[in-house]
Amino acid sequence: MQPVRMTDQMWQHLLSLRDGNVRPVALPDDPVACGLSLYKPIALRNGSFVMAQVGQSLDGRVATPTGDAQDVSGCDGIAHLHRCRALVDAVVVGVGTVVADNPSLSVRAVSGRNPVRVVVDCNGRLPEHAKMLHDGGMPVLVMQADDIAVKPSAHEVIRLKRQANGWLSPQDIVEALAKRGLTSILVEGGATTISRFVDACLVDRLHVSVAPIIIGSGPAGIRFSPIDRLSEARRPDVQVYNIGSDIVFDCNFRAEAGDAAVSPQSQDVLMADTA
Ligand SMILES: NC(=O)c1ccc[n+]([C@@H]2O[C@H](COP(=O)([O-])OP(=O)(O)OC[C@H]3O[C@@H](n4cnc5c(N)ncnc54)[C@H](OP(=O)(O)O)[C@@H]3O)[C@@H](O)[C@H]2O)c1
Repeated sequence: MQPVRMTDQMWQHLLSLRDGNVRPVALPDDPVACGLSLYKPIALRNGSFVMAQVGQSLDGRVATPTGDAQDVSGCDGIAHLHRCRALVDAVVVGVGTVVADNPSLSVRAVSGRNPVRVVVDCNGRLPEHAKMLHDGGMPVLVMQADDIAVKPSAHEVIRLKRQANGWLSPQDIVEALAKRGLTSILVEGGATTISRFVDACLVDRLHVSVAPIIIGSGPAGIRFSPIDRLSEARRPDVQVYNIGSDIVFDCNFRAEAGDAAVSPQSQDVLMADTA
């Protein structure tokens, strides 16, 4: 497990990478270098990049059965989520998350830019009073099926073809965002929305941030299509980071388990990073 220490200098370096500015930075010790290997794949602008993030308990829950989801993650888990938000162009959530949590999806725990907010709301049930529609923050884009009635709204609605299975295609969502210059995307939840993106093989990285609490019952943070045998389970290359209050499992779906002995991140040297 790799300990992560985020310094202000390293965070400014990551923000400048996110803006396309490549400057060398000194890496004083291992924990700072580990921070670079955790966040650099998100910050680098190498075409389309989709990541998902789940903050969960030791027993894999994201809320109680009554829907209390406040503070599952510890303070460092929350800072981690906000760093991820600050490094991407857009944050995507399903309408179930907006109904349950009424989030603002802004960057507050660290310095950095707020992402565009995207709600996948196939059937047009996003509450008009949702906080993000009225907080004066970054634009909200709502993805709807093209077969539902058009309603006047103050936010931009992107109408996509409904698939034969009744869902919107995550690929269509990614392409619609790319047309607007939004090429790095954080799918923040919930489980339904993340599973659609993973099933469509669109997720490059999945961060599972585990907090040391046991809820014992309640919804899971990840829910993939059912499988019969463990041999069919997803086995991404996983790097594990101790970020303080929480542990982050960084799952690389683009690398098969076993190919990870020399990861691109492990090539970062301790003297300097030139991106
Ligand atoms: N701890 C965390 O990291 C975290 C983060 C976010 C959310 N959460 C929790 O997750 C829970 C909500 O998760 P959830 O799985 O119930 O809901 P969700 O994923 O937020 O939203 C699911 C709904 O969004 C729409 N949707 C999403 N993807 C779609 C697609 N590809 N095509 C068409 N429609 C799509 C559908 O709406 P319709 O039903 O209208 O068709 C779907 O039922 C809450 O308890 C929240 O607190 C936890």
